[in-house]
Amino acid sequence: MKVIITGGAGFIGGNFVNYMLEKYRQYEIICIDALTYAGNLETLEEALADPNFKFFKADISDRSSIYNIFEEEKPDIVVNFAAESHVDRSIEAPELFLKTNLMGTQVLLDVCRKYGIQRYHQVSTDEVYGDLPLDRKDLFFTEDTPIHTSSPYSASKAGADLLVQAYHRTYGLPATISRCSNNYGPYHFPEKLIPLMIVNALHDKPLSVYGKGENVRDWLYVEDHCSAIDLIIHHGRIGEVYNIGGHNERTNLQVVKTILRELNKTEKLITYVTDRAGHDLRYAIDPTKMHDELGWFPKTSFDEGIKKTINWYLENEKWWTNIISGAYKEYYQKMYQNR
Ligand code: NAD
Ligand code: TYD
Repeated sequence: MKVIITGGAGFIGGNFVNYMLEKYRQYEIICIDALTYAGNLETLEEALADPNFKFFKADISDRSSIYNIFEEEKPDIVVNFAAESHVDRSIEAPELFLKTNLMGTQVLLDVCRKYGIQRYHQVSTDEVYGDLPLDRKDLFFTEDTPIHTSSPYSASKAGADLLVQAYHRTYGLPATISRCSNNYGPYHFPEKLIPLMIVNALHDKPLSVYGKGENVRDWLYVEDHCSAIDLIIHHGRIGEVYNIGGHNERTNLQVVKTILRELNKTEKLITYVTDRAGHDLRYAIDPTKMHDELGWFPKTSFDEGIKKTINWYLENEKWWTNIISGAYKEYYQKMYQNR
C-alpha cells in the first residue's frame, strides 16, 4: 500500500507520518510538502532516515508538479493535510488561503480522479461549522450541523470540504472527510495558542490572551487525531463525513493558567490584548458517529495531554528555538506589538 500524505512536514501531518511509519511497516509513505514557514524537515528527521519513506518538496496547487509525482508513484491512498492553517494570518492576508486550501485541494481531487485512487481523505476542521454560543453547553457540532464560517481560514476550508463532497457525488471519487477540533501536542508551530504560551512562559514573556479569554476550544491530543484518521481511511464509509474530538473543552484562560501552573510561572505574565476580529466563541464536537461506527474515542484527557506536551517542549528546545529565531520573529513583532 502506498500512501501520499500532503502537508506532512507540518504539525498534524508530521505526527501522522510518524504514526503511519511506525504502525504499518509494510506501507510506503510518501510526503508532499511545499515547506512553507509552517513546514519543517526537522519534524521528519526520523522519517527521512526510514527506507519506507519518501519526501517531495512541491506545492499542491502546482498542477504539473503534482501530476508528475502521481505519475511516478501511483499511490493507493491520499490524505490531504496541506493547508494554510492559522486564523490570524488568514485575517491579515486571505488570498494564499484560497490558493492553497481551495485550489490546491482541487488539484489533488483532479489528480486522484485521473489515477483512480482507492481513497482520498480530506482533513477538514470543525471551524467549518462556525461557532456555538458560550451559554448553551448543551449544544455540540454534529456532522449535520450546517456549514457557517467566520474567518477566511474557515471559509477556505469549508470551500475545500464542499468541493470534496461534489467530486464524490459528481465523479464518484472515493472520498472521506474528517472535521476535527483543535489539536495540540509535539511539533506544534509556536504561533498557535498552546505552544506559543509554553514558549513565552519559558522566556517570562507576556502571554497575550485575546479579549477576556472566555472563548472555548475542544482540545484533542494529536495522537488521537492520527488514530481517528487511520480508522477512517481503512474502515470509514466512502462519501461520509466524520467529526473528531470531544469532551475536552476549556476556556483559553483555563488553558493559559494550566500552562503557567505546570511551569511554575506567575499569572502576572497574562496580558489581555485586543480581541481577534470575528473571533469564534465556542467549538465543541459530538463524536458519537466516530464512536458508534469506528469504535473511536479520544484516549488522552486534556490534563494528561498538556503535561505530555509541556514535557515535549522542555525536552525538544532545539526544535522550537530554530523556529523562533528565524523569519517567525518578524511575524511575531508585527502581530503582537501595540496590540
Ligand atoms: P500546519 O500549518 O502546522 O502545517 C501545514 C503544512 O502544510 C506545512 O508543512 C506546510 O509547509 C504545508 N503546506 C502549506 N501550503 C502548502 C502547499 N501549497 N502545498 C504543499 N504543502 C503546503 O497545519 P496543521 O495544524 O498541522 O494542520 C494540518 C491540517 O489539519 C490542515 O488542513 C488544517 O486545516 C487541519 N486541522 C488543523 C487543526 C489544528 O488544530 N491544528 C484542527 C483541525 C483541522
Ligand atoms: P489558535 O491556536 O490560533 O487556534 P484557532 O483559532 O484555530 O482555534 O487559537 C486558539 C484560541 O486561543 C482562539 O480562541 C484564539 C486564542 N488565542 C489567544 O488568546 N492568544 C494568542 O496569542 C493566540 C495565538 C490565540
